[in-house]
Amino acid sequence: MSNNYKVADIGLAESGKLKIEWAEARMPVLMALREKYIATQPLKGHRIAGCLHVTKETAVLIRTLRAAGAEISWSGCNPLSTSDEIAAALAAEGISIYAWHGLSVDEFYWCIDRTLDFKPTLTLDDGADLITRVHTKFPELAEIIYGGTEETTTGVHRLRAMAAAGKLLYPVLAINDAETKWEFDNVYGTGQSSLDGILRATSVLLAGKNFVVGGYGHCGRGVADRAKGMGAHVAATEIDAIAALKATLEGVRVMKMDEAAAWGDIFITATGMKDIIVGRHFDAMRDGAIICNTGHYDCEINLPDLEARARSKRTIRDNLEEYILQDGRRIYIIGQGRLVNLAAAEGHPSEVMDMSFANQFLGMVHMAEKGKSLEATVHDIPRKQDLELATLKLATMGVAIDALTEEQVAYADNYLEGT
Ligand code: ADE
Repeated sequence: MSNNYKVADIGLAESGKLKIEWAEARMPVLMALREKYIATQPLKGHRIAGCLHVTKETAVLIRTLRAAGAEISWSGCNPLSTSDEIAAALAAEGISIYAWHGLSVDEFYWCIDRTLDFKPTLTLDDGADLITRVHTKFPELAEIIYGGTEETTTGVHRLRAMAAAGKLLYPVLAINDAETKWEFDNVYGTGQSSLDGILRATSVLLAGKNFVVGGYGHCGRGVADRAKGMGAHVAATEIDAIAALKATLEGVRVMKMDEAAAWGDIFITATGMKDIIVGRHFDAMRDGAIICNTGHYDCEINLPDLEARARSKRTIRDNLEEYILQDGRRIYIIGQGRLVNLAAAEGHPSEVMDMSFANQFLGMVHMAEKGKSLEATVHDIPRKQDLELATLKLATMGVAIDALTEEQVAYADNYLEGT
């Protein structure tokens, strides 16, 4: 079957293939699932529309879904996160893919709509833009869709709101909420890849810098930990008392953004909320402040407020814009305020995406088998799946763990035994 596609340059396919090969060698759990499910073809007859960052790791997921029998159409889920090499490699392999780096908002939705032309029976989202498009523009498609999956905290939040309003038309699995996803991807993946993006874009020394993390959730904590490890003085801003307490006891100063604005050298937002850094914060910042975002959407830094204060703007390095304010101070924005780890680097490392995408793959298989019988709401990943994936991942890493003896189980259940 011939595929339709729109990518930046199909000539990049060969270098994309090498990158996918590199990722495959670091995603043993997903590769083991590919090996296992190739025989039973659980996705045969299904058409999957996916809307998720086009990276080398995503290509490994796509190849695995196809190996299990699915036909695939794909778009990226962020205007700046597509690797053109990977998109080209996938197009050359026969995937119907509509994705290129730097597309406009109109083009972004055009790409999603092309994947829906394909009349999917399953949807796979990161940020819920695809499923929202089904609900708002093509609701008739919901009748043929068995179910969907959602990758990220922000997307799950949107879908729970849709379900609570009684508007969700088919069941969705919250991949983000699997422990083997959020405990690893959100913390270690975001931690490493966000610093990777900051360093590729700026090449500044982190040691000794005042580093402000907006939000101390799993992503913010991961970033804060890594920045601390590189010698930065780290502060976090929070609206949640427990998260703020956790940060404080983990050696991270907590302050309001109004105070942090004047203190920080480098800022990163990781909240999923809009307007974390706004005009009055830019007014207070030091000359040379560097700002970026690692949340799903680009609304955490209020760029219109910055534009309004700027007398000029230029691109000074790849993915780095310099704004000169009316009073002469320079403010630097990485990746236009979009996800710094994907706009300025390659996203989370393959080793951690291995678990996230093993969950995605099993989620698709689950929906193909059970979707039609599930209530149209947001469902959790079965605990059993989490444990199986963790066990498999440990095995691939050569890590062995103990098991309780019968006596120990009996001891744990014996409430009479004390001192
Ligand atoms: N989200 C964060 N990192 C990613 C990656 N490497 N691939 C796909 N989605 C991601």
